[in-house]
Amino acid sequence: MEFGSEALRRARGYEKEKAAEIPAGEKPDFHMTPPVGWINDPNGFSCYKGEYHLFYQYHPYSTHWGPMHWGHSKTKDFITWEQLPCALAPDEAYDGQGCFSGTALQDGDRHVLIYTSVLEKQDADGNKIVRQTQSVAVGDGVNYEKLPCNPVITADLLPEGSSRVDFRDPKLWKQGDRFYTAVGSLSVDGSGQIALFSADHVDNWRFEKILDRCQNRYGKMWECPDFFSLEGKQVLIVSPQFMRAEGLEFHNGNNVLYMIGDYDEEKLSFVRDQAFQVDYGLDFYAPETLETPDGRRIMVGWLQSWDNYLTPGNQKWSGMMTIPRELHIRDGRLLQLPVRELESYHGKSVKSRAVTVEGGSFVPGRDPLPAKKEPGVEIEGIRGRQFDMTVEVGAGDYERFEIDLAEGHGFRTAVYYEPAAGVLTFDRTYSGCEHDTLCTRSMYVRPQRGKIKLRIVMDRMTVEIFANDGEQAMTCLTYTDSRADKIRFACKGRAECDVEFFELIKRM
Ligand code: FRU
Repeated sequence: MEFGSEALRRARGYEKEKAAEIPAGEKPDFHMTPPVGWINDPNGFSCYKGEYHLFYQYHPYSTHWGPMHWGHSKTKDFITWEQLPCALAPDEAYDGQGCFSGTALQDGDRHVLIYTSVLEKQDADGNKIVRQTQSVAVGDGVNYEKLPCNPVITADLLPEGSSRVDFRDPKLWKQGDRFYTAVGSLSVDGSGQIALFSADHVDNWRFEKILDRCQNRYGKMWECPDFFSLEGKQVLIVSPQFMRAEGLEFHNGNNVLYMIGDYDEEKLSFVRDQAFQVDYGLDFYAPETLETPDGRRIMVGWLQSWDNYLTPGNQKWSGMMTIPRELHIRDGRLLQLPVRELESYHGKSVKSRAVTVEGGSFVPGRDPLPAKKEPGVEIEGIRGRQFDMTVEVGAGDYERFEIDLAEGHGFRTAVYYEPAAGVLTFDRTYSGCEHDTLCTRSMYVRPQRGKIKLRIVMDRMTVEIFANDGEQAMTCLTYTDSRADKIRFACKGRAECDVEFFELIKRM
């Protein structure tokens, strides 16, 4: 007999059939994508029996959000992903409106998933009632059974006044023999709080305490908490909704913050420092982390945004995950760099030292359009849409240093640095966007010994920028014509740079 409910079997059949219809070369090759349909948050990112599993918020039947399933993939190296059948469908009375985000861990032989079960019903007066609770499913790496006693945590356990509607995205971990879960919740003051629960078995939870509170300082509801130790400190990552911009910070309404602090495991108390933005790009949300057997903390995020829907109309899939990133702490800040496994996909390389760049740069809307745009500099062998490139720009006499990616046929996606302001900008205005979507985002980058260092990883339509060895990250999509595959360096003024370029190639 086939495993699972009718809804699960339908999703599994549908994704298998439709995935075959997606043209080769349409998706990125080094990022996790769905077989078909819509995805948002990564879920259940965990190591199980020696492989890394990644589930995700998934609506196979359209390229827009809908009743949430958990899609499922696994990998041995974070770069090449194997598609597995859909893991969870909204098929129970308590989760009929969606299996929302959650996490996973290996417990003995079992793979334990905890997720938010969403129920919508009408009360006697016909008013809509929404309830978010936490539920558990246990499986073998392919098939997952929901516990008969679900939901295992309801809002009844929360402190008085906490919302019954906004209570979601449990992060699961084990400390000794006990299970812990940190869940996003909306408190009486209308802003986020993180509720901590513990259990000796995954079906009998008790409320412990409120680990942290937003107190209306950083957005409202705190979604998708992650909580882990790293290099002697404790890190809380949250994805707040409804954030307000401050300077160049927090421009995405749905943003992601990290807070570094100290955690007393006995008293379960967390004292943290200031909050910082995790990624400054237009397309990054709801990351999750895991710890590898060799002790690395790896983070993966959703590479798309709630607010700027760019998916081309003819595409049968929407959304992808970032390249997983290794995390470290340096000088009280979180450092992020692509997993080292990416290097084994490096193909042909080009190294160019002390390249002089002069001319060719202008900012649309800010500079008068030069009568004939000066060409800037192309470097032989540095071209393509799938690469891992590091550019170090030295001190020079310049107003702006620019790298045009995916350039040609009238298109370009610009990344430029203006040293007077110390600001790096991503700009996809001329990438071929046909809708009035947001195209630019900026962040401060501080020069180190007079230089700035940018590592840019591109995989067809993804651009992930890591400044100064991972001090800051900026992740954006650029759906641009696939013929636009040049890389051009330009400068208003004159600058020198060192470039190290690796083509990314698929391994057979
Ligand atoms: C974050 C989020 C989560 C929720 C899920 C629903 O992007 O809103 O809070 O669990 O997406 O798909």
